[in-house]
Amino acid sequence: MLYGEYLQLEKILNAQRMLSQVHNLPVHDEHLFIVTHQAYELWFKQIIFELDSVRALFSSSEGLDESQTLDILKRLSRIVLILKLLVDQVMILETMTPLDFMEFRGYLCPASGFQSAQFRLIENILGMKQENRVRFNQHYSCVFGRDEEALAAIEKSEREPSLANLVERWLERTPGLEEDGFDFWGKYKCNVGALLQEQRDAAMKKDTESERAFNLADCEKKKAMFDTVLDEDIHNSLVQRGERRFTHKALQGAIMITFYRDEPRFNQPHQLLTLLMDIDSLITKWRYNHVLMVQRMIGSQHLGTGGSSGYQYLRSTLSDRYKVFLDLFNLSTFLLPRTYIPPLTSSMKSRLNTHWGSSNEALYC
Ligand code: HEM
Repeated sequence: MLYGEYLQLEKILNAQRMLSQVHNLPVHDEHLFIVTHQAYELWFKQIIFELDSVRALFSSSEGLDESQTLDILKRLSRIVLILKLLVDQVMILETMTPLDFMEFRGYLCPASGFQSAQFRLIENILGMKQENRVRFNQHYSCVFGRDEEALAAIEKSEREPSLANLVERWLERTPGLEEDGFDFWGKYKCNVGALLQEQRDAAMKKDTESERAFNLADCEKKKAMFDTVLDEDIHNSLVQRGERRFTHKALQGAIMITFYRDEPRFNQPHQLLTLLMDIDSLITKWRYNHVLMVQRMIGSQHLGTGGSSGYQYLRSTLSDRYKVFLDLFNLSTFLLPRTYIPPLTSSMKSRLNTHWGSSNEALYC
């Protein structure tokens, strides 16, 4: 078999049909426009392939096998690198000038990246929820009207557990959360109380009344902020409003992993959480680069070829509502100074350690 046959280059390299050429008014830059989009779609395909395999590893009926965490990390790291490439790739298309784009834009209508089924699949597989999308985007599937295959894939991605769902279930089983065991949450609550009390005491020692009042008010703000995570009802109402994502238990797991990330068995889980944030960050960066490019190409007043308000619509997708792993970004709000992190008991310490030569108990079973 030859190189070209194996890669089916005949299909790929003959798939650049310039509509400007078809209309006998060739525009040089339309070639770049097509190739750029096709390159994106190929990388989207690879991202979906990796995400699906990661979901399969998480979905094992016995729970995630610890020995497979490295595979998950490798695949998520690969997705991160691909996304970095995709963020930078926007610049290549920006070498096309708005005037050049205007020359062939009319031929595209009503085609638009809005109809990229693979982009929606990536969002859904990661865990983007319908209700968190901005209104124009909530009925996105109607743009695939006659494309049965795209519709079926989109519906499937909406039905199946997303990566966020699977990570949530995994976090809920973080060792050390058991109330009748290490009881991390009980200890955390207690230490938050002690930290706030210390800050109140320090506030009361201030020299002037206004300083005392200012510092006490600051303590109250901190307390209110910690209450949002300590009080399950407040947490759940934030989830309802779309301002939090994970269940209360999963959030506890994420905080615990962040505190004890230096313990060998939490190293990889901590890396995993970092990679999930990287993925969210890079998608937001892509959205931002894309929206800047759109403004440069068509300005902020023109409608998109897909029927949206164009720049205005895309700008609205830059909000936190589009971050799937939003809670991980906000974890820093709930961290405690090192001296307030509950010390590990000796049995917890040995549970989180691996020793050369000793038999290892499974981390999440
Ligand atoms: C000249 C370059 C581009 C322009 C002017 C442009 C314009 C737009 C506009 C106006 C929209 C909003 C939907 C609508 O059409 O009404 C949109 C959405 C979108 N475009 Fe582009 N685009 C460009 C390049 C690209 C490239 C290279 C990709 C790569 C795949 C892409 C992917 C997307 C995606 C995925 C959406 C949906 C975003 C969402 O709904 O959150 N676009 N584009």
